[in-house]
Amino acid sequence: MDFFDAIEKRRTVRDFENEEIEDEVIKKIIEAGFHAPTNDHMRDWHFIVIKDKATVIKLLDVIPKGISEEEMNALIRDWNLSDSEQQGCYRNAVPKQYRMLADASVVVIPLLKQKTNILFADHLSYLNGFASIWCCIENIFLAATALDYGCSLRIPLGDEGEWSRKVLGYPKDYLMPCFIGIGRPKKDAAEVKQKAIDFNDRIHWNGWM
Ligand SMILES: Cc1cc2nc3c(=O)[nH]c(=O)nc-3n(C[C@H](O)[C@H](O)[C@H](O)COP(=O)(O)O)c2cc1C
Repeated sequence: MDFFDAIEKRRTVRDFENEEIEDEVIKKIIEAGFHAPTNDHMRDWHFIVIKDKATVIKLLDVIPKGISEEEMNALIRDWNLSDSEQQGCYRNAVPKQYRMLADASVVVIPLLKQKTNILFADHLSYLNGFASIWCCIENIFLAATALDYGCSLRIPLGDEGEWSRKVLGYPKDYLMPCFIGIGRPKKDAAEVKQKAIDFNDRIHWNGWM
């Protein structure tokens, strides 16, 4: 697939076919991640690839399996989601947080070595390692798209990160930035419209004009 086609085609996928994915394909997708830029040249990243469904179910045990209409309305209110398209996105995404990982062919947990307290960083540069792994994650999304797969993404909330560490046994100095589900997008997967942006309005030549 052409590079720019992959960029345009990449979307967050939350509805997956029940399909196996070959180890070689997973490796190829993760390898693309390792070509991302990195702050300290070290790419001290690891990936836990979970194909075993029992482990996936245990890992996801702490993620809410759904949300009531009342809770959804409260979330939209409390998070100040005023844009109607944004609300549409959340109404589609929030109820699928569990399923979009449980139904994926594989769950991948990226890990970065975090040397400083990321939540109380004294300098912007302390976040460089975190920023680097997100470059890596985007490469993974694009590689999956180029191979006709798709990815779901969840940021761990509350104790989900600590629970993941307990279930998967990774060391204390490694941090999990997100859960990734990879699989074949369902043919009738819900299309959440991407917010249309006229990028010409967002480019400022030679200053904020
Ligand atoms: C930093 C970050 C955090 C995100 N967190 C979640 C999440 O927790 N759950 C989820 O379903 N999607 C999550 N997403 C996906 C966004 O909802 C999605 O990228 C956005 O709505 C645009 O849609 P698109 O990816 O299909 O273009 C996240 C994306 C980013 C970049």
